[in-house]
Amino acid sequence: MPEHTFILNGESVTVDIEDDVRLLWVLRDVLGVTGPKYGCGLGVCQACTSHINGKAFNPCSVPVQDLRPTDEVTTIEGLPATVGKELHPMQEAWLEYDVAQCGYCQPGQIMTAVAKVRQAREEGREITEADLDEIRNVCRCGTYHRIREAIVAGAKKY
Ligand code: FES
Ligand code: FES
Repeated sequence: MPEHTFILNGESVTVDIEDDVRLLWVLRDVLGVTGPKYGCGLGVCQACTSHINGKAFNPCSVPVQDLRPTDEVTTIEGLPATVGKELHPMQEAWLEYDVAQCGYCQPGQIMTAVAKVRQAREEGREITEADLDEIRNVCRCGTYHRIREAIVAGAKKY
């Protein structure tokens, strides 16, 4: 089978797998990285949201062959290391606001939140209510109100 190399949470990894296998299965089933959750497999629910080169993306929708050896994939497991701490400030805000209910969607929610704040900063501004309105991550438990509060609080911490 073909080999594919990319950077995962700061370390180069190589997998031996068919070209068209989507990255979410590679992460979860081959590499044992289970933070990104499987919800729809179609790029709709956002449960698998992770970062590629600092931007949010859905690994359920990306065939492994699309990754280059220099591409940096960050999952919730690697998020704290991006700020050199045990927990990312957004994760601390999540705890402070007691956001999670069943927790299933929450890794994706946090990764989306961090990417949103980064995007706003790159545009030279703070996160707004309009940014929060754009978030499409589905939460079956209905934690949306606490998510919004935590993102605003988390954004102030870094
Ligand atoms: S599992 Fe990836 S968006 Fe739903
Ligand atoms: S906390 Fe249960 S799906 Fe969001």
